[in-house]
Amino acid sequence: MAGEPSVLVVGSINMDLVMRTPHMPAPGQTVTGNSFTTNPGGKGANQAVAVARLGGRVRMIGRVGDDHFGGALRTALETEGIDVEHVRVIENTSTGAAVIIVDSQGENSIVVSSGANARLTPDDLYGCADCFADADIVLLQLELPHPTVRAAIDLARRHNCKTVLDPAPAKANLPDALCEVDILSPNATEAETLTGQPSGEERRDKLIASALIGRGAKVAVLKLGSRGCLVVMADGHIYRVPPYKIDVIDTTAAGDAFTAAFGLAVARGENMHQAAKFANAAGALATTKLGAQAAMPTTLEVQMLMRDQRM
Ligand code: RIB
Repeated sequence: MAGEPSVLVVGSINMDLVMRTPHMPAPGQTVTGNSFTTNPGGKGANQAVAVARLGGRVRMIGRVGDDHFGGALRTALETEGIDVEHVRVIENTSTGAAVIIVDSQGENSIVVSSGANARLTPDDLYGCADCFADADIVLLQLELPHPTVRAAIDLARRHNCKTVLDPAPAKANLPDALCEVDILSPNATEAETLTGQPSGEERRDKLIASALIGRGAKVAVLKLGSRGCLVVMADGHIYRVPPYKIDVIDTTAAGDAFTAAFGLAVARGENMHQAAKFANAAGALATTKLGAQAAMPTTLEVQMLMRDQRM
């Protein structure tokens, strides 16, 4: 890993409570599930694990509660080789948790309870500004309080490190200050929420991405799932990368794998087109296994998919 860029993840850490079911319950309906598992997750922690498995050097800033989940999640990150010195335990607080339902098509619905994630403050970040000074790129999501994400963007800018924001969970009326990042990478639903515009075909996707550039992002990367991805840059360059062909088991955290791989590739000096192909492969592979962190692919797996399906 010597010579690898230094990646800082400021983000959420959750325990995922996952049920598989033939179809999503409608409001008021009870359905019988096929299985129940408890897996490490959280968009921030998933991205940290993705970067680590792809060979990057990762440090994470986050918070867990003083319950059983907190210790297990911190240990899981440490086992992946992630620097967890700044993953602190908050007393008398529960760890973040997500209830996830996965249907037979691999699609998911997620409800998140922030728990200790909500306790990471801007002052906590100012107190470890050296982490930003040491980083080449910072990966952010929106499962932390927005003022904390904003402070992370400010600190990153001050220390000349690139910023990547995965704007999930997305909210309409997200302040422009949170869009002013080097790379903004929503999925189609999140992009629609952020812009109020429908996605679904090339022309519309380009309009949405351009709207995100208009709000301050230098590069907008739309994660379009079975339609691949679209990269639109503030300088006018546009890249469309088709999807890899894979058998989808569970789409949970595929977007996290994509964004982490994209950020790592950019930090390694790859151009946006190469980064998009690499990220598309990582995201696709994450859908071929159950779970969030458990599904993050290795460098070898990504290389093999890219070699087998040259694009
Ligand atoms: O992106 C997937 C993640 O969203 C899950 O791991 C869950 O914890 C929620 O944060």
